Amino acid sequence: METASEKRQVVFLTILLLLWKSDAETIRYSMPEETESGYLVANLAKDLGLRVGELATRGARIHHKGNKDLLQLDAETGNLILKEKPDREVLCRATEPCVLHFQIILENPVQFFQTELQLTDINDHAPEFPDRKMLLKISESAQPGTMFPLKAAQDPDIGSNAVQNYTVSPNLHFHVITHSRTDGRKYPELVLDRALDREEQPELTLTLIALDGGAPSRSGTTTVHIEVVDINDNPPKFDQSLYEVQIPENSPLNALVATVSARDLDAGIHGTVIYSLFQGGELSQPFEIDEVAGEIRLKGTLDFEATPYYNIEIVATDPGGFSGKCSVAIQVVDVNDNAPKLTISSLNSSIPENAPEAVVAVFSVSDPDSGENGRIVCSIQNELPFLLKPTFENYYTLVTERPLDRESRADYNITITVSDLGIPRLTTQHTIIVQVSDINDNAPAFNQTSYTLLVRENNSPALHIGTISATDSDTGANAHISYLLLPLYDMQLALTSLVSINQENGQLFVLRALDYETLQTFEFSVGATDHGSPALSSQALVRVVVLDDNDNAPFVLYPLQNASVPCTELLPRAAEPGYLVTKVVAVDCDSGQNAWLSFQLLKATEPGLFNVWAHNGEVRTTRLLSERDVPKHKLLLVVKDNGEHQRSATVTLHVLLVDGFSQPYLPLPEVARDPVQDDEDVLTLYLVIALASVSSLFLFSVLLFIGMRLCKRAREASLGVCSVPEGHFPGHLVDVSGTGTLSQSYQYEVCLTGDSGTGLTM
Ligand SMILES: *[C@@H]1O[C@H](CO)[C@@H](O)[C@H](O)[C@H]1NC(C)=O
Ligand SMILES: *[C@@H]1O[C@H](CO)[C@@H](O)[C@H](O)[C@H]1NC(C)=O
Ligand SMILES: *[C@@H]1O[C@H](CO)[C@@H](O)[C@H](O)[C@H]1NC(C)=O
Ligand SMILES: *[C@@H]1O[C@H](CO)[C@@H](O)[C@H](O)[C@H]1NC(C)=O
Ligand SMILES: *[C@@H]1O[C@H](CO)[C@@H](O)[C@H](O)[C@H]1NC(C)=O
Repeated sequence: METASEKRQVVFLTILLLLWKSDAETIRYSMPEETESGYLVANLAKDLGLRVGELATRGARIHHKGNKDLLQLDAETGNLILKEKPDREVLCRATEPCVLHFQIILENPVQFFQTELQLTDINDHAPEFPDRKMLLKISESAQPGTMFPLKAAQDPDIGSNAVQNYTVSPNLHFHVITHSRTDGRKYPELVLDRALDREEQPELTLTLIALDGGAPSRSGTTTVHIEVVDINDNPPKFDQSLYEVQIPENSPLNALVATVSARDLDAGIHGTVIYSLFQGGELSQPFEIDEVAGEIRLKGTLDFEATPYYNIEIVATDPGGFSGKCSVAIQVVDVNDNAPKLTISSLNSSIPENAPEAVVAVFSVSDPDSGENGRIVCSIQNELPFLLKPTFENYYTLVTERPLDRESRADYNITITVSDLGIPRLTTQHTIIVQVSDINDNAPAFNQTSYTLLVRENNSPALHIGTISATDSDTGANAHISYLLLPLYDMQLALTSLVSINQENGQLFVLRALDYETLQTFEFSVGATDHGSPALSSQALVRVVVLDDNDNAPFVLYPLQNASVPCTELLPRAAEPGYLVTKVVAVDCDSGQNAWLSFQLLKATEPGLFNVWAHNGEVRTTRLLSERDVPKHKLLLVVKDNGEHQRSATVTLHVLLVDGFSQPYLPLPEVARDPVQDDEDVLTLYLVIALASVSSLFLFSVLLFIGMRLCKRAREASLGVCSVPEGHFPGHLVDVSGTGTLSQSYQYEVCLTGDSGTGLTM
């Protein structure tokens, strides 16, 4: 309240001064705006020099001249009262000074007084920006010192109460300068102190403060949002300056090799990057790059063996022409994509057997891969008699391990397996067929060591009696066999007249009819010779056995049948029954059953008196003789062999009955002396004699020996030789084969003089 009364005094003084200065017609008042209603502006009566109450009597009133009814006149007291709170900003806006005109009208007499009320400004408004937020776009290329005008803040107050100063919140880049317009109003301008970098700080927010000059001063704020506008000031930059990648050589077309990426710090279009190969023209590079994505892809095939390493350069450019570069080192990784190769340089597919070591093939192996993928191992089947010998570098020879034998195996199928050690293993196979050529190393071999062929006597000439066979395990001419006869051991036989052989098939033929009685068996050798060079041959023994046929009839040796004087046996009348009259001796030149003789009495003068033993030909009496018996008897006997086609001979026997032994007719019990009989026969004879001597007749015979000598001499000529008339017998009767077979035991080989006391059976 103290300040209010002081104010009032100041206003009062001002009014007085105004009153003094102006002409008497205008009364001027002054007061600050925003004064509360009811305020006593002045006492008009006093100011006009009127008495109290005169105003009322003279009907004083205020004419507001279109102004608001701001003042009220109390006519009684003459006080001029403020009717409502005046607002200078409303009443006058920017007009300065703010003067309100009104008139005091007096009637009776009429009198006008011009009155002015001046409202003075107080700082009742704060500065205010039109927008709460200001947006400013500033290129990062703006140079320090560049100014950017900002919108001014409004303050309805005037004079020093209006905006006086602008400031900005502390920052690194800007300060604010306050400028005055011609009308005195102030506006701010931003000044760039330090260059902006969008890449560092793409936007800033500042607070702009406007201050008025009142006391105390008021302020208003706004936010200034600064967007830093990009310029293309950064080159693209790769994440890595060197990319190292590995790629297998068998990668497919369009395979991703690597992805490079470059960054451009600029924004928008300035930050877009286009990739390209720096040496794009080089055809040898099988790579291409996607210009947007930066993916390096394969456009051709890789071959480790040709190019194991690539170094390509990639350039990235932005639209402003800035560019960056990087290198990509591409290492091609070897893949086992090449199978080993086998090249035969020489091949000998025909190897002679028995050769100690023969070279079958010389070959080389190769594999363009590297490392384990290119390391090669060679092998052949285990069981074959061949060896692989490494010679030099990648050359191998295939040789025989030991001499080959064509007869055990004639050809070999050798599979050479070549494989590398890569993963997976690649393998090549090559098959070589080796023929083993024949050498004449095998002699013909007979299928039997000896052959025994049987042939029946009296065969037809040129009879096939058997086949010998030899084989040769060689082949071709080395196995072509010819058969031939080799000379006999027994040189006496003319072999070529006896047998012949078919040279080609080994069939044996007997050329002429054989006679068992002449030749029972013979042996010879046959040879088999191959046609190799030199030829090999072998021999086998062939034994031909002649089989007997019953082709000889029994032959009676005693009694002689063809004698001119028939031999007569003497029989004493006193002979006991069973008395041996004589013994018929017969032979058969055949053997075996064919020579087994049996005797049979066919006919007799007095049947029943004599009996013939079937097996030994002994003729014996069967009863005592009597006087009635006729002295002369004739017996007819038959001798049969036991052969298939039985043959026989008849014997006629004469018997004379005598009354004692004094007759000079008694035959001598002497052994016939045969000049050709050998020692064996003599032995037999002695045996016979020994046997005979046991008999009771022996003594009797000795006594008679000398007595009968004359008789014997008389017949010596006809009994001396006991040989076979035909040439079938080889001069004697003994079997010379000496084999001891059954047939022998049936041979009758003695020739006895026909004494009744002697006989022989074996
Ligand atoms: C504006 O205000 C600032 C800070 O308060 C002051 O340093 C500066 O002198 C003032 N300018 C004017 C013209 O009054
Ligand atoms: C094969 O080898 C044999 C013996 O080693 C030789 O005689 C022959 O001439 C060779 N043949 C060829 C075609 O080399
Ligand atoms: C060799 O062996 C191969 C494969 O095993 C086969 O096809 C071929 O017939 C054989 N050849 C001979 C002559 O054995
Ligand atoms: C030997 O060969 C001949 C003629 O081919 C044949 O008859 C005979 O049975 C063979 N012998 C053997 C033991 O095979
Ligand atoms: C009786 O036969 C033998 C032997 O054949 C003979 O030597 C002899 O001369 C023959 N005698 C007569 C008389 O025919």
